[in-house]
Amino acid sequence: MQQEYDAVLGNMSAQHHYNQFGISIVEGLLFGKHCVAAISGVGKVASAFTSQYLIALYQPIFVVFTGVAGALNPVYQIGDIVIARDSVQHDMDGRGLGFPRGEVPYSGLRFFTSDITLLAIAEKTVCAHCVHIGRVLTGDQFITNKEQTTYRYMLDELQGDAVDMEGASVAYICKKYETPFILVRTISDKANNDAPENFEAFLPEVVGNSLAVIQQILFNSHN
Ligand code: ADE
Repeated sequence: MQQEYDAVLGNMSAQHHYNQFGISIVEGLLFGKHCVAAISGVGKVASAFTSQYLIALYQPIFVVFTGVAGALNPVYQIGDIVIARDSVQHDMDGRGLGFPRGEVPYSGLRFFTSDITLLAIAEKTVCAHCVHIGRVLTGDQFITNKEQTTYRYMLDELQGDAVDMEGASVAYICKKYETPFILVRTISDKANNDAPENFEAFLPEVVGNSLAVIQQILFNSHN
């Protein structure tokens, strides 16, 4: 998001930033490591496009995706960090073709796992809030209503801990390129009727969490 991007810019030296296809992109040294950062855009298509473009161009050693998520897991509180053990497209529905919901038909792809080395590093982030490891469900909907029938499906069948709108699509692209990937989200709302207000109010605090995890990964990864 713009706020996270601005925080990265503020911590990057030797930076060169530019705009391509309407995407803000910056290259430079972040916490001593060569990095490229960008604003992905909202939703599965925009985020897949951005990540595909950047991976093809820069061939990164790994990809870190940060942002906010709505909590499904009742233990998760606003401000907590969730690091995705895996992610899945909750709105992919190929049941008419005989595939379970969430699975990309004819691909065998359903749950996209985060890189275990990056996960082990990221989960040690020191943060004022809790750091959870969980399952993130991705779809092109901002979830606001616990009465939705899809809500039960998200909890019971997919066993989701949080919802977002980009994680599994970026994970899909990284899987195709065999690029290690980690998805890190700050809980901004509880995916209920208060979600739109919580989401807006909470954005500035997200920046601190995202930067803390990015710093933790860049300090401790060997590349
Ligand atoms: N990202 C943050 N909150 C969300 C929600 N409630 N639904 C989908 N994506 C989100």
